[in-house]
Amino acid sequence: MKLTSKSVALVPIIVTVATAAIGATLIAPPAANAASTLGAAAAQSGRYYGTAVAASKLGDSTYSNILRTEFNMVTAENEMKWDATEPNRGQFNYSNGDRILNTAVGNGSRVRGHALLWYQQEPGWAQRMEGSDLRQAMMNHVTQVATHYKGKIYAWDVVNEAFADGNSGGRRDSNLQRTGNDWIEAAFRAARAADPAAKLCYNDYNTDGINAKSTGVYNMVRDFKSRGVPIDCVGFQAHLTNNAPSDMRQNLQRFADLGVDVQITELDIAGSNQANAYADVTRACLAVTRCTGITVWGIRDNDSWRTGENPLLFTNSGAKKAAYNSVLAALNSADPGTTTTTTTTTTTTTTSNDPGTGGCTATVSLNQWNEGFVATIKVTAGSSALSGWTVTTTLSSATVTGSWSANRSGNSGTVNWTNVDYNASVPAGGSTEFGFQGSGSGSGLNPTCAAR
Ligand code: XIL
Repeated sequence: MKLTSKSVALVPIIVTVATAAIGATLIAPPAANAASTLGAAAAQSGRYYGTAVAASKLGDSTYSNILRTEFNMVTAENEMKWDATEPNRGQFNYSNGDRILNTAVGNGSRVRGHALLWYQQEPGWAQRMEGSDLRQAMMNHVTQVATHYKGKIYAWDVVNEAFADGNSGGRRDSNLQRTGNDWIEAAFRAARAADPAAKLCYNDYNTDGINAKSTGVYNMVRDFKSRGVPIDCVGFQAHLTNNAPSDMRQNLQRFADLGVDVQITELDIAGSNQANAYADVTRACLAVTRCTGITVWGIRDNDSWRTGENPLLFTNSGAKKAAYNSVLAALNSADPGTTTTTTTTTTTTTTSNDPGTGGCTATVSLNQWNEGFVATIKVTAGSSALSGWTVTTTLSSATVTGSWSANRSGNSGTVNWTNVDYNASVPAGGSTEFGFQGSGSGSGLNPTCAAR
């Protein structure tokens, strides 16, 4: 058996600021460069900072002043949803959505459209529908609303919250889902046809870290990309309590690596660790080049849908909270155009075993940082097609913390990975991928492949 191994260490780019200490997580730019609003601070690295807006509050001067000065992206909190825009079948009402859009544009902000199809806040008439009749109404809704706002929307949440919570990694049951599993791609195609300039996003919650639900979404996005279904971005709602998931950055990055933009779309954080958690979410986005912006779900604590949890950046009277200051400082620490951490080392190692011995080969591409790694394993069939495969890896100083697109026998030592249903068949010479995240060192995984 021939073993080839190639190792490339990429030296991280470090911006020299006087005598910056190596090992510090962030390097602050000179104070003279610091911006004094969230929008301006985010714009320094080409990103936006947005908020959800309620049309009913636009007459409140405290609210509208903060909106105008601090934010440069707006999401209608409820006014562009299905129940608001099509209260009766075929009868559309854009009055409140348009008010929000016009206010945003008047302030020099862009607008995120939210949301074309969602199983909640369906109008009553749609809730009572099913099957092909509902499918037709859904696609008409997407077409009509996207056409009304054509050319005015930065990005649409085409589909919101279609995946189930828990460990299934599958779709959530709803009358939308029961029209057929292809409803999501049909909606994206209809939205693209209606407004070719808008970025088209999938948006969900409890997908902020690496888990079964986010992996289900990841597999859908990868499938869409491979089949040319028009998808440009994924939104992560980030309704959080106390902490950001520790692997939020890795999760955003694995989606970005599929070739989509990512955004934090509905951020609010309850709990006593709020200021730190807000800074962590900010840094997770800043560390991912394709994370293009962050939106908080409301301005003042009493504007929040999470009544009594005080999860936002401004007090009821409109004063800046500690969380505001930590977000602003984190945004001002962003290093425009380069990596924000000085301690990350990315190593790509590819190890192949001899083609043909087990009917397939496995190669690994590794993204290693100080505490952990993401390994993507490519399974390639030999001269015969595969109807199933097993990959064996060695994790001598690592523990698997999450995985996708394969079943596994354990989480350390010798770990066997077998195909799941949808990637069992690999044509002769073709390939498929699965992946996992681990803590510790991912070097020496040494994958071998056998047909099963
Ligand atoms: C919420 C609004 O904030 C509330 O005013 C409304 O009563 C219910 O919806 N996920 C989403 C948002 O995508 O649209 C939800 O907004 C919050 C959860």
